[in-house]
Amino acid sequence: MIYCEDPELQAIIERVYKHEQGHIFRFWDHLDEQQQTDLLAQADLIDFSLLSRLIEQAAAGKEDKHEGRLEPPEVITLAQREGNDDEARQIGEAALAAGDVAAVLVAGGQGTRLGFDGPKGMYPVTPVMQKSLFQLHAEKLLAIGDNFGVQIPWYIMTSITNNKQTIRCFQQNDHFGYDHENIFMFIQEMIPAIDRQGKMILDEPDHIFMNPNGHGGTIKALSESGALNDMKERGVDHIFYFQVDNVLTRICDPIYLGYHILGDSEMSCKVVHKKYPEEKIGVLCLIEGKLHLIEYSDLNEKDMFATNKDGSMKLWAGNIATHIFDRKFIERENQGGFKLPYHLAEKSIQHLDNKGQKVQSDEKNGIKFETFVFDALVDAKKTVCLEIEREKEFSPLKNSEGENSPETTKRDLIKNYTRWLKEAGYNISLNKEGMPGIDIEISPFVSLAGENLKELDLKITGKEKSLYID
Ligand code: UD1
Repeated sequence: MIYCEDPELQAIIERVYKHEQGHIFRFWDHLDEQQQTDLLAQADLIDFSLLSRLIEQAAAGKEDKHEGRLEPPEVITLAQREGNDDEARQIGEAALAAGDVAAVLVAGGQGTRLGFDGPKGMYPVTPVMQKSLFQLHAEKLLAIGDNFGVQIPWYIMTSITNNKQTIRCFQQNDHFGYDHENIFMFIQEMIPAIDRQGKMILDEPDHIFMNPNGHGGTIKALSESGALNDMKERGVDHIFYFQVDNVLTRICDPIYLGYHILGDSEMSCKVVHKKYPEEKIGVLCLIEGKLHLIEYSDLNEKDMFATNKDGSMKLWAGNIATHIFDRKFIERENQGGFKLPYHLAEKSIQHLDNKGQKVQSDEKNGIKFETFVFDALVDAKKTVCLEIEREKEFSPLKNSEGENSPETTKRDLIKNYTRWLKEAGYNISLNKEGMPGIDIEISPFVSLAGENLKELDLKITGKEKSLYID
């Protein structure tokens, strides 16, 4: 064991050894004083009793307790919505006008699959103006607030890996028009990963590899950062939660809010019909009468391919990860400490060899731990699942190419803007793929879902090289 004169630092060292993680000090003699202090400061933040439990969980391996017991959930389907949306909209609009609604954006992920060097929210997505995801979300929020004479308080969760860049991006862009006192950024916790032997991993001689604790960390971080209290002081009752990656999100959708309120729901979900059984989206289902969300990576083949008598997909309700929470529900979830379960993911993690050289192989050498916000569903007394049309509301940016890539998000935005224009009576010719052949973009300040366009009486000649309507 290594020794320090300072008793407080020595206590940290002893805690590390007691939990059989003393290998993190293997480069100790080569570290300068500052590096030694940094390493101990990082070790001091680790919850070792949680880590021990997770190491045991990893050693026990994945067990599927639910196989074959998953039933389809109750969903307010598109057909059931017909004739009822108006009542829901009015209720949602009243909540917005009364200032009862806040927005929470989760943007703490690492966006590894996209291969973008920076927070995913900074990725340019709009077809003509190349607005970033952050700008698009901000403008939608401002526009919907304007409709009801409010500025919706906006809470943004980042992680230590992208917090500084996110703050700088908002500052450099004058918060995209938002009053900065209505934007509240907060940071989620990090958690160490382990290798196959249950040991923490050094990615630098003085640094332990850690990853954000999953978006389930929102529940804890909202409370610990003071964001929940801030919401309470502002009189917020309902929290609209959305992911950074979906370019079509209807932020603070009044209809959705209305169904949530009408259903007396504590946590609500929007769902789409899964395109095919292996699609990488989580599924909503019932287990012993309780609503659960099973992540695609945890869904076994039997349930994935299960069909109804008529051959249709049994577990069809795909999660678009857009939720509404009641503030009081999040408060209750925090009572008695954070209780969401951790999920394990095998990953390739950069580490150091015995000489301190960095090694990155394709081999999945480590296990990351993450919590999922939707695991809170089982604690909600009442829930609402609302079916939506994928083409109108769901097109996430996940990959650098292929499905859910910059190419498909741009295509889906153009398709929506074109549909809005056509529905407003404008003549736009389409090619064989159903596309207009030029880039089209409509500012959220003009229209959020196709409204207001007819009244504008635009002159569209068909000769434009691109079209931006603002
Ligand atoms: C997610 C959902 C999946 C859903 C799909 C829809 C999970 C585990 N699964 O999949 O059920 O069908 O979206 O698009 O979320 N994030 C954080 N902190 C973290 C981890 C993630 O803030 O520690 C944020 C990301 O910034 C992003 C969102 O959570 O906004 C989703 O994360 P991601 O890892 O991309 O989830 P998916 O696997 O795509």
